Amino acid sequence: KRIALVTGGFTGESVVSFKSADFVMSKIDPARYDVYKVIITIEDWYVEIGQQKVPVDKNDFSIAVDNEIIKFDVAFIILHGAPGEDGKLQGYFDMIGLPYTSCNALTSALTMNKGYTKAVVDGLRNLHIARSVQLFAGQKNAEDLITSNLQLPYFVKPNNGGSSIGMSKVKEISELAESLEKAFNEDSQILVEEFIDGREFSVGVYRDEEGVKVLPATEVISPKEFFDFEAKYTPGMTEEITPGRMNEEERSRVEQVVTDVYVKLNCQGMVRIDYFLEKATDKFYFIEINTIPGQTETSFIPQQVKAAGMNISNFYENLIQTAVC
Ligand code: DAL
Ligand code: MG
Repeated sequence: KRIALVTGGFTGESVVSFKSADFVMSKIDPARYDVYKVIITIEDWYVEIGQQKVPVDKNDFSIAVDNEIIKFDVAFIILHGAPGEDGKLQGYFDMIGLPYTSCNALTSALTMNKGYTKAVVDGLRNLHIARSVQLFAGQKNAEDLITSNLQLPYFVKPNNGGSSIGMSKVKEISELAESLEKAFNEDSQILVEEFIDGREFSVGVYRDEEGVKVLPATEVISPKEFFDFEAKYTPGMTEEITPGRMNEEERSRVEQVVTDVYVKLNCQGMVRIDYFLEKATDKFYFIEINTIPGQTETSFIPQQVKAAGMNISNFYENLIQTAVC
């Protein structure tokens, strides 16, 4: 089988995508699959073959190498943020009939937007969401809306972002204006959420022919105010415990809730759901779902696959097989 491992992107997460793609590439058995790394940037779509930069034909996502047209059997999308996590590539692949390993266009577009996703999963049994306000660029009464609806501290996030880029925690009102500006630099829509005082976890969920499966969750103990870009990608900076410390009741409740989220959003392939268990009440607070979760050396999914006693190469190959079936 010929695999297009699609990487790059239009956002600051492209650096993460390149690392994820290198990791996945190193784990897929070249005796079983021909893997081509397809790089998509704002300027170019191409495959590097030796010193050559071979352009991708946008009509059918093929490449021409030594007069031979190479068409792919499946796209393994490992491109975080736009245009690989927000449904655009998924819609394009649907148009040209190329199977892919991730969620469909609608689910990808919806889940890229943290605020809209919360609205859809709200009401699921045992699932809680932090109070929040969504703001659009140019909105006049932004600070009033926030202060009259939410209690400090707040998290301010670009609504369509990832890897905590443009995100900040606001502990005093005097910090709010700068945080809003930082988030609006990344996106025209932002989300301001109330802080949840809880234990932080992230858990991989995937589907194969047997059904929806949940990996062992990772507990995150960040040395910083929150799990920011540096804490996410600096090896050893953050204490990460897999499986995270949950009692049996918590574990089975969480597994049911994240399975319900996966099904309700009609996900495909591997996703990762971030959540908190509130300290005072033990309630499950849904934070967000990542439909192209990171696969770098410090990322959670590889740790969770290992903790589940599975082999990461088999795990990726299973995703590929499920996508083409
Ligand atoms: N957005 C990053 C890549 C993640 O969810 O892992
Ligand atoms: Mg994310």
